[in-house]
Parts: sequence; C-alpha cells; structure tokens
Amino acid sequence: MLASLAALPTVPLASVPSPVEEIARFRAAIGAGPRLLIKRDDAIGFAFGGNKVRKLRFVAADAIAQGADTLITAGGVQSNHARATAAAAAKLGLHCILVANGVPPDPPTGNALLGRYLGAETRFVQSRADRAPAMEAAAGVLRRVGRRPYVIPIGASTPLGAAAFVGAVYEILEQIDPPDVIVHSTSSGGTQAGLVAGCTLAGVRTRVIGISADESAESLSRDVRRILDGLGPLLGFEPGKFADVPVEIDEDFIGDGYGISTPESRAAIELLARTEAIFLDPTYTAKAMAGLMAHVRRGTFSGAGTVLFWHTGGQVALFS
Ligand SMILES: Cc1ncc(COP(=O)(O)O)c(C=O)c1O
Repeated sequence: MLASLAALPTVPLASVPSPVEEIARFRAAIGAGPRLLIKRDDAIGFAFGGNKVRKLRFVAADAIAQGADTLITAGGVQSNHARATAAAAAKLGLHCILVANGVPPDPPTGNALLGRYLGAETRFVQSRADRAPAMEAAAGVLRRVGRRPYVIPIGASTPLGAAAFVGAVYEILEQIDPPDVIVHSTSSGGTQAGLVAGCTLAGVRTRVIGISADESAESLSRDVRRILDGLGPLLGFEPGKFADVPVEIDEDFIGDGYGISTPESRAAIELLARTEAIFLDPTYTAKAMAGLMAHVRRGTFSGAGTVLFWHTGGQVALFS
C-alpha cells in the first residue's frame, strides 16, 4: 500500500474488504469464456453498501477535518450516492441536505425512502443543470448563519473520492492474483479513475473497462482524466503522473438513456439472480453486466484468463 494513501484520513463506515467470489454458474450460462469473478461492493455492510460508501470513507473524513456540520450533495431522485451520503451524515452526527433532480416518488420508494429514514432534507430541482447552483445556494444560506456546510460534488467523484478506489485495487490484490480485465459501471468517473490509477501504481497489467451508464465515452473520458490529473498530486506524485494511462469507456450499453433499462440489462439482472443469487441494479450494474456478457460472447476477452466484474452496488433501486 502507498504511504501517501495510507496517510489520508478515513472514517470507519464500511466493512472492507468486500468479498470476491467466483461466478461459475453464471459463466456456464453465458457459454463459458474466461474465468469470471465478482467483487462484491454491493455487500459492503453499511447502509446497503456500494461504491459510494468506499468514496465517502475518505470524503466524509475530510468534511470532519474541516469542521463541517452539514453534508450537501446532489443526484437523481433515486441516487445511490445521495443515500450513501445521507447514511454517512447520520452515522457521523451531521446534518444532510440532498438536492434531487426529478419528480419525488409518492409514496417515497427505494433510495428516496431511505434518505427520508436517514433524516436527510431533500430539495427537488427540475434538471441536472439546476443541481450545482442549488447546492451552492443551500451552502450559502447555511454559511450566512454561521453553519459549516461541506458540498460533495456529484458521485463524490473528486480525486479524494477516487483515492478510495486506488485503495480498493490494493485490497483486491491481497485477495486474488491480478485479473486480466476489470469490468465495471462508470458514470461520474471517480470509480474508474481510482481503478485505473490503482492498477498503474500497483504495477499490474489489468485492463479496466468502464461501461457507461449515461455519458458518451468522449465526455466521460474527459471526466476520468480530470480526476486522474488531481489524483497524482493528492498521492504525492508529479502532475501528469497518469497522463498516458489508457482510459477505456464503452458507451454501447446505455440504450435509451440514464435509468432506462434495455432488454440486455433486464436479462443480466435475471441471469445473475437465477445462477448466483446476486442482484444487479437497473441503472448502473445491469448495463455493465450486459456489456460484460456481450464482450464474452463476442470473444473480446478470449486471451484473458480472468475477468473480474466489480459490482458497485445500487440494488436498492430495484425497489424504486
Ligand atoms: C451503483 C453504482 N454503480 C456505479 C456508479 C458509477 O460510479 P462513478 O460515479 O464513480 O463513475 C454509480 C454512481 O452513481 C452507482 O450508483
């Protein structure tokens, strides 16, 4: 483990390491191909887990270090990141304001329901573009009355959030030999930036493929590269440390858009449940698994010994 990473403060939200399992029955059902493993961040034992819990271990620690009394973040009405932030705030004794774009579910379901149980105050806005100004406005109001808000950008996809996934690479390398390929869902880019940087720093030749949940490969690779640019200095390296690393994003499984399932993503949910009793979520991980299945069937990974699916959580959305 890198000393600079180990020196970053964390709060003990999550029970990590998360398990890694072989999914042999799923592999047989999709017609064999490379050995398939799954990293179970969906099974992280804090507030229904997921990749955002990993990131918040670092980001919430920074909020505490800065003396924050309120966490503010944003997402869609069924945002996993919003639920994980509300959970971190509850556990740490902080207030939480969530800015959600979309129509509030009535009655509240899924992550929206959990956010309410966790005591977060949710403010609804119309569009994605309204979210950042609404967060800043909420923070401004609190600052004026002497409170200490801490604004967490969408998905906690900052260099600090991504550092959690650098650590996650070291975690998995204690559990298994380096896989040839990691496939995972990508959206705001922090998970992918961390995985790519982690594999580079650990000196493994693992190919990391992010399957986009919404954005084009072009715009998402810009986001991942921007996070990587900040991650180098955060970890004590020169700027540009990760300038030449490959960032692979597959935009072919988005279908009609964010949160809209496809025949392939529905098939992925059913097949993984029926063969392994593991649940994917419709917005992120089912599309990523649909991507993995398509690549295996096309023979893209024929030279690979092991492909690891990094399950980033989100299963609460099945109840939305
Ligand atoms: C379940 C799940 N998987 C994957 C992602 C994408 O991760 P990132 O935003 O770090 O790209 C998200 C983000 O919201 C998520 O909730």
